[in-house]
Amino acid sequence: MTEKIIWNQGITKTVFPQLCGDIDADTVIVGAGITGLTAAYVLSNGGRYNVAVVEANYISESATARSSAHLTTASDFSYEALRSKYNMDTCTAVAESRKFAISFIQNLSTDINCDFKTVSGYLYTEKADEIDRLQTEKEVAMRAGLEVNTAQLLHLPFKTYGAIEFKNQAIFNPSKYLYGLAKYLNKLPNCSIYENSRVTGRDDNTVQTEFGSIRTKTVVYATHYPLFFDLKQTLVYPYRSYIIAAKVAENIGDDVYWDTHDPYYYTRTYEYEGERYLIVGGADHKTGSSTFNPFARLESFLRLRYSVHSVDYRWSNQYYEPADGLPYIGKSNNGNEYIATGYSGDGLTNGTIAGYLISQEIMGLKEKQWNGIFDARRFNLLASAGKFIKENADVAKRYVMDRLNATNTDTIQMLAPGDGIVVDEDNQKVAVSVDREGVFHYVKANCTHLNCLVYWNRIEKTWDCPCHGSRFKPDGTVITGPAVKNLEKV
Ligand code: FES
Repeated sequence: MTEKIIWNQGITKTVFPQLCGDIDADTVIVGAGITGLTAAYVLSNGGRYNVAVVEANYISESATARSSAHLTTASDFSYEALRSKYNMDTCTAVAESRKFAISFIQNLSTDINCDFKTVSGYLYTEKADEIDRLQTEKEVAMRAGLEVNTAQLLHLPFKTYGAIEFKNQAIFNPSKYLYGLAKYLNKLPNCSIYENSRVTGRDDNTVQTEFGSIRTKTVVYATHYPLFFDLKQTLVYPYRSYIIAAKVAENIGDDVYWDTHDPYYYTRTYEYEGERYLIVGGADHKTGSSTFNPFARLESFLRLRYSVHSVDYRWSNQYYEPADGLPYIGKSNNGNEYIATGYSGDGLTNGTIAGYLISQEIMGLKEKQWNGIFDARRFNLLASAGKFIKENADVAKRYVMDRLNATNTDTIQMLAPGDGIVVDEDNQKVAVSVDREGVFHYVKANCTHLNCLVYWNRIEKTWDCPCHGSRFKPDGTVITGPAVKNLEKV
């Protein structure tokens, strides 16, 4: 099955123009996902700032439109983990910020038809020895100010050993929400949106795209990862997550669920054209390193627990894990640039928090909201050290080992349709792939970001970079950055 995202079905898309020529803006926002459009909304409302949003691809392809659309106050990095790494004040600030994000989206959903609904969220376990862990999480989350209960009965058709219920969570359709926001912004005289306009360069006063440029003083990188050099690039690490939507015999209702597996599985439902789909996500792995078929793993999770009629949609997403458990949001060390990265699996809530916080910072308001815990310029050695050392050692290892592992050109003959391999040709590393029609593609294997070697993603037929998560089509075209240039053709 080829990729098909359920959120984009049946929606009215608005196509925005490509940036051609030179324009001026007070603020340029790079990326039209939830972070970028939230920031554009707050900044341009009331005619305060003249804002230009530039999106490399299309709104319906952004990371936001690829999520599973759970809006939770529960944290990807558990509250107990936050408490032991930091303290209760940090847990409370995280809980407050996440409540804020959900109510921000809820308020806008009165004008944007995005299927917003308040539900409960259940963290459950299928292991008898994890009940205490759930109770600890419940107690810490309650102390942080959340409404959490021990759940007695779940509407799940398989055995669980315990669960806690987070009240006042939500679900929505992220594509409808983004298009609603974009259409609203498009009507404002002081906001313009451009799609298919990848940023290719930046100097002190200008942001360049392929066919245009914007003169500006302030740039917001709402790109999931800083595009141009920033030390934060060593503090966040790329992972991929996978999602399928299926018709099943059981109806689990509207609530959202996630379990205690590592990586965990997350589940919700969505109704489209009178059919209810069960949406299951998980099978996460470090980008550029999959050794299993994640969609097959998801399907087996599903079939072991539900009576499956058909699997109708599947798509994937990427997220960045921060070294110290919290996202980096706000002004960076590079002049008037703002970044938002390290959302973990909480992209929708953290994206909303980021869009809001960055716009407040640009306007000179509420600088230390939520105790400043998301400050993009922080480096907390104690909280970061373990993950920082492990992940960066991994990057260094891949940088060296992938070069040594490149095979000789004889192996090209053994490639099956849909496969790819990195070969050594005259001391040059070449990424060779063959498509379903048997056509070979040859590109340089050196990632155009910082020169790591790309890795063939057999399931999605892409070249993925293990170092910072750039992804490329078989012909070398950039799918997602931080790389802004295509792989060179050979
Ligand atoms: Fe940084 Fe490839 S994404 S080297």
